[in-house]
Amino acid sequence: MDKATLTYKDRTVDFQIIEGSEGEKAIDINSLRQATNLITLDVGFQNTGSCTSAITYIDGDKGILRYRGIPIEELAEKASFSEVAYLLIYGNLPTREQQNLFSQRLTQNSMMHEEMLRFFDGFPPTAHPMAMLVTMVNALSVYYTDYYVQDFQSENFDIMAASLLSRIRTIAAYSYKHSIGQPHVYPKRDLKYASNFLYMMFDSPINPYIPDPDIERALSVLLILHADHEQNCSTSTVRLVGSSMVNLYASICAGICALWGPLHGGANQKVIEMLEEIKNDNLSIKQCIESAKDKNSKFRLFGFGHRIYKNYDPRSLILKNYCQTIFKKFNYDDTLINIAMELEEAALKDDFFIERKLYPNVDFYSGILYRMIGIPTNMFTVMFAIGRLPGMIAQWKEMHDSVPLKIGRPRQIYTGSALRHYIPPDER
Ligand code: CMC
Repeated sequence: MDKATLTYKDRTVDFQIIEGSEGEKAIDINSLRQATNLITLDVGFQNTGSCTSAITYIDGDKGILRYRGIPIEELAEKASFSEVAYLLIYGNLPTREQQNLFSQRLTQNSMMHEEMLRFFDGFPPTAHPMAMLVTMVNALSVYYTDYYVQDFQSENFDIMAASLLSRIRTIAAYSYKHSIGQPHVYPKRDLKYASNFLYMMFDSPINPYIPDPDIERALSVLLILHADHEQNCSTSTVRLVGSSMVNLYASICAGICALWGPLHGGANQKVIEMLEEIKNDNLSIKQCIESAKDKNSKFRLFGFGHRIYKNYDPRSLILKNYCQTIFKKFNYDDTLINIAMELEEAALKDDFFIERKLYPNVDFYSGILYRMIGIPTNMFTVMFAIGRLPGMIAQWKEMHDSVPLKIGRPRQIYTGSALRHYIPPDER
């Protein structure tokens, strides 16, 4: 068996190398502190695996993404979002019978307790939909207390997972309706996941929602592409918070908060704002590229770069194709997509981006596609959260299924003052 050897002062310690199913290797340092009294320091966890996981595989150098072994390209072409959610949470694609039961549970749990609607009355119309989303997801733990489960193989867990998946969509659509001052629209039992969301978002007594199969499929694909991405910032947050044994709602709520940041899920909103700035201020592509490279400038090329992908993010390629298809079909008059494509072309030819292996990530084209679907910019990160939920639930379940569950508790190297003593106020 492979091993790594650490020599420190007069001690030599061997550590086992563990290997994943795709040949990824890691030094297992579980015994490090006990053997050496040392810890590792890895700011930003660039070299640290926090767990083993059988859910999602990414090869960032080759641009590979697979859920439970299935390539993202196949799922984006053939699967429905609810099938993908089932696959991630339970490990395999559902049989017809399992799919029917899962869909039934999604439908039966799609409405919120009517009293929860009063929460929306307390939110100003200017509230960011992400702020409303996290508040309402946490509020689910006030109303659905029966679902505090410890047994993750039980039917209670299945219902809790389905209800969360279904209700997050209802909450998101209601947040939007609230922000534009329209009455909310109840979910319809005969609509599929993405269609039901669009119906709740865009139906009104004056302008009934007219479904379009290409738009509905585009939204399903967007959700599928976001459904999991192994141990990213928000998923790691779900695991860390969940490791304290707090309930699923609280863990997911923390994860959604982490997702909100512009370096993570919030980047999709930032991309559109950046493209709008380029258009409105009449900036040239060259100026943007130069500003993005300038460390003194605040301008960053949002939607570019990734901690893991050092090649094309496979999700961005799928989305670019969808953007082009929808763009042509509806003959959109949107200069932003042209700016985005020019920006991409220029960045990919620039040495700064080449040397650092910075490619478009999922957020580069997702915002443009959301925009074509009619989703307002401040809802983009909410869409990311809806899509990411199956992965968060799957990772939470996997962590709880693993024995023994260890509370997440990183160490630190203290760099503050050495021992000193309290000085009374008049003597300072
Ligand atoms: N524009 C300009 N320079 C960049 C960019 C960018 N978008 N991304 C990275 N760099 C540079 C960075 O300045 C650094 O240069 P140097 O080596 O000279 O200091 C180098 O590339 C490495 O970047 P980093 O910030 O150290 O890399 P990281 O792995 O810590 O960060 C990232 C990854 C995604 C936070 C970063 O690439 C970024 O800020 N991108 C823009 C925000 C974005 O699009 N986020 C969405 C990520 S995908 C969806 C998700 O999973 O959340």
